[in-house]
Amino acid sequence: MNILVTGAAGFIGSHLCEALSQNEADQIFCLDNFNDFYDPEIKRRNIRDLIELNQVTLFETDLRDYDQLKSIFETYSFDIIIHLAAMAGVRPSIEQPFLYTQVNIIGTQHLLDLSKDFNVPHFIFGSSSSVYGENKKVPFSEDDFVDHPISPYAATKKTSELLCHTYHHLYKLNIACLRFFTVYGPRQRPDLAIHKFTRLINEGIAIPLFGDGTTKRDYTYVDDIVDGTIRTMTWLLAQTDPAYMIFNIGESQTVELNYLVSLIEKALNKKAIIKHLPHQPGDVPLTYASIDKSRKFLGYDPKTKIEEGIPIFVKWFLESNNL
Ligand SMILES: NC(=O)c1ccc[n+]([C@@H]2O[C@H](COP(=O)([O-])OP(=O)(O)OC[C@H]3O[C@@H](n4cnc5c(N)ncnc54)[C@H](O)[C@@H]3O)[C@@H](O)[C@H]2O)c1
Repeated sequence: MNILVTGAAGFIGSHLCEALSQNEADQIFCLDNFNDFYDPEIKRRNIRDLIELNQVTLFETDLRDYDQLKSIFETYSFDIIIHLAAMAGVRPSIEQPFLYTQVNIIGTQHLLDLSKDFNVPHFIFGSSSSVYGENKKVPFSEDDFVDHPISPYAATKKTSELLCHTYHHLYKLNIACLRFFTVYGPRQRPDLAIHKFTRLINEGIAIPLFGDGTTKRDYTYVDDIVDGTIRTMTWLLAQTDPAYMIFNIGESQTVELNYLVSLIEKALNKKAIIKHLPHQPGDVPLTYASIDKSRKFLGYDPKTKIEEGIPIFVKWFLESNNL
């Protein structure tokens, strides 16, 4: 089977490609533009082994470049697209909303349109828990009302889910949208809290804590995200009629920020210096995934609790020279 993974050099994408490449029957095609949202060298390193061992084919392409994308689809045929490429991050999306719209919405539409034109039947879209906005009902379930995003990033993810549904309806594409809940683990993006806090605490620099530390997140270990994505692929391929489904992929355990910091302190054996800052616009107070639907349809069963995952991340961080 030919699998196209977009955003393949990123944090989640590179872990997914490694896992997919274990199945020798599949051909893995990686697409990424290696942008400088964070150091592109980190992204090159993320997939260096896969490239050197000839386990994947790389397209260094920008999702916004329709003509270049089209020439790829004219040359190769794909059975499924796993679309993870995006401008990620809530706060930067408030600074650059047009960029987020162009990459996340137009880029997704390019891929959906090419899927239609070149008969790629299956599509997985990497959505986000941010679509739940300030949802008060916990845990968040896929049927909850999500028409109140509070950041441009969240709005692009919700819009892309709607585009996915439209292409499913009109062109019978078989689609699953996966709402990932804050992902962490080795190679986590350097802008994300766990990575940033670990770096700063390790260097003895104060960590910025937005709000009073009582915000809560459902943190999901990257191996569980990869497992949920591969299970979704298997599920999509088994459908006899084209489906459109949304699944939460989270840990279903909500962790307070103050507790998270204490776990990092313990793993580093260093005390954090905390600088309290006001609550940030766009940040949601709580995320908490209901994973009943993912359990039922996908057999998804996340394995790594935060108390186990943080020491693994910190060990990786220390061994990889604090990248
Ligand atoms: N990490 C999380 O906690 C989290 C949570 C929810 C959803 N997600 C989503 O999962 C996906 C992967 O996230 P990640 O944390 O691995 O981020 P990441 O930034 O590490 O990976 C995204 C990749 O997409 C690539 N990319 C960006 N714009 C592109 C473009 N125009 N053309 C081609 N490639 C482009 C980047 O170079 C990068 O390698 C994203 O869609 C993100 O929104 C992530």
